Amino acid sequence: MPITYLILYLNQFLTYPSFINIVGISLIFALIGFFITYKMTITFMPMTLKSGLKGIDINKCEDVHNLKDPNRKEIPESLGIVPATVFLLVTIIFQIFLNLDHEQQLQYNASLLSISFMTFLGFADDVVDLKWRYKLFLPLIASFPLIFAYSGATNILLPNFISNIIGIKSIELGVIYKFYMCLLSIFCTNSINIYAGINGLEVGQSLIISLTIILYNLIEIILHDGQVEENLFSMSIMIPFFTCSLGLFIFNKYPSVCFIGDTYCYFAGMTFACAGIHGHFSKSILLFFIPQILNFLFSFPQLIGIVPCSRHRLPKYNHNTRLLTGQKEHWNLLNVSLRILGPKREQDLCNILLIFQILCSIFALLIRFTLFKII
Ligand code: UD1
Ligand code: MG
Repeated sequence: MPITYLILYLNQFLTYPSFINIVGISLIFALIGFFITYKMTITFMPMTLKSGLKGIDINKCEDVHNLKDPNRKEIPESLGIVPATVFLLVTIIFQIFLNLDHEQQLQYNASLLSISFMTFLGFADDVVDLKWRYKLFLPLIASFPLIFAYSGATNILLPNFISNIIGIKSIELGVIYKFYMCLLSIFCTNSINIYAGINGLEVGQSLIISLTIILYNLIEIILHDGQVEENLFSMSIMIPFFTCSLGLFIFNKYPSVCFIGDTYCYFAGMTFACAGIHGHFSKSILLFFIPQILNFLFSFPQLIGIVPCSRHRLPKYNHNTRLLTGQKEHWNLLNVSLRILGPKREQDLCNILLIFQILCSIFALLIRFTLFKII
């Protein structure tokens, strides 16, 4: 009986025409995006190095200022420009096959405009090292095309037990909801950028978040819970995002042969914000950012300047033991984890944090599809 039920459901879902079209074509484009990113990263690495875009792999040497240290390696920086450009190329061409109506076309292109602007800002940040106030202000402007093109609901549904008491099912928030979406864009872009500093962590967390979103959209479509078109919109940008990021991850994972720069962090953050906002799950998406929220909360006193904040808030590397030790003056999840778990190798710390991200994603999906239904 349960199997028949499942087959009936899956059958309905597989014969849904736009699902096959959008996901199928998206997968083909995404695969092409992966290979182009992989190839172009190899081509671009010596080019960015030559043009002076490079960074020191801080967790490989004890003193980054000691120019004679043989472990002080310069690595090409800002390679995030490659997946971002390939992603934009792929998604711009992809819309030819999407058969969108006027409104959907507007939302799709507004999202691409926000992502392009954010990528441009990230690249500018890598070149001139922007001040923190600009890093907060510019994502706000970048999110405007995305927000103005939004045509979904601006109300929030109240939990059942509250609506039973007060007799209202939802509250209309209007402009406050749009303001929330601006804040979400700022949060997504910056939260990935400050949860960083060890090889592979930025791209690794983005890969897991994008997979979680794809899974979330699939479950929504299968359960006929959310709106199918909106979930398909989110999938159509998350699938190529995942593969383009994977093309970069191969080079950025431990031991990194390239850094991704703020270009990638901002590109990734804005792409998530677009998926969440135009996919109409701008509240649920925060559930997929649990480690980033924790890191933001730990960092908050340093971000607003109550506690002194140095340029890099990284652990201390010991060359003899090859282990990283948590620093008590750096208030972030990296250092807190090391102080709880004890000194770790860089690759082990990254794996632990990525496993934590996966566990948080599983927890988030469980909460979203069980508890949220009951309350
Ligand atoms: C943010 C963090 C900063 C962290 C940095 C690492 C805040 C407020 N800022 O700053 O604490 O040190 O990210 O990205 O939390 N690097 C490595 N190994 C890596 C990745 C980066 O050594 O695996 C170093 C390299 O020198 C690289 C530099 O970090 O060039 C990039 O830093 P950048 O992205 O410019 O720092 P912020 O985003 O300003
Ligand atoms: Mg950065």
